[in-house]
Amino acid sequence: MNIKNQFTGLNKVIRTTTILISFCCGLVFSSYAEDQTPDLGIDIDLMNFMEETNDSLTSNISLMNRDGALEDVVLLNELFVMLEEHFAEIGDYPEGARLAKKSTTLTAQLNDAITTDNYNNATKLGIELSNACKSCHEKFK
Ligand code: HEC
Repeated sequence: MNIKNQFTGLNKVIRTTTILISFCCGLVFSSYAEDQTPDLGIDIDLMNFMEETNDSLTSNISLMNRDGALEDVVLLNELFVMLEEHFAEIGDYPEGARLAKKSTTLTAQLNDAITTDNYNNATKLGIELSNACKSCHEKFK
C-alpha cells in the first residue's frame, strides 16, 4: 500500500514536471512563432542596403565603371547569400528561396560579365536582377 502510494506520488511529480516542461516549451515556441508570422523576419536594413547597392550597380554599369561595379556586385552577392540562408532557416517558402538563389546566381554572372568588360550582358543581367527583386516583393512584401 505504502509502496503503491509512493509510486502514485512519484508519478504525479513526474507528470507535473512534464506538464511544466511542455508549458515552457510551448511558450518558447509560441513567442518564436509570433516573431515570424507577421512578416518573414526580413531585415529591413539589409533590404535598404540592397536597394542602395543595386542602384549604385546600375549606375556603375551604365558608366562602365569597372571597379565600382565589381565592388557593388561582390557586396550584393554577400547580401543575397545571407537572404538565401534566411529563407533556408525559416523554411516553408520555396518560391522565396528560389528567387534568393536565382539572385545570388545572377550576381555571380554579373561578376563574370563586368570582369570581362561585357557591359551589354551586364546591363541585361542587371535588369534580370531587378526583376527578381520585384518578383519576390510581389509575392511576399
Ligand atoms: C527572395 C525575396 C526577396 C528578394 C530577392 C528581394 N527582396 Fe527586398 N524585400 C523582401 C521582403 C519579404 C521585404 C519585406 C520586408 C518587410 O516589410 O518585413 C522586402 C523589402 C524590401 C525593401 C523595403 C524596405 C522598407 O523600408 O520597407 C526594399 C527597399 C527592398 N526590399 C529592396 C530590394 C532590392 C533592391 C532587391 C534586389 C536587388 C530585393 N529587395 C530583393 C524580399 C526580397
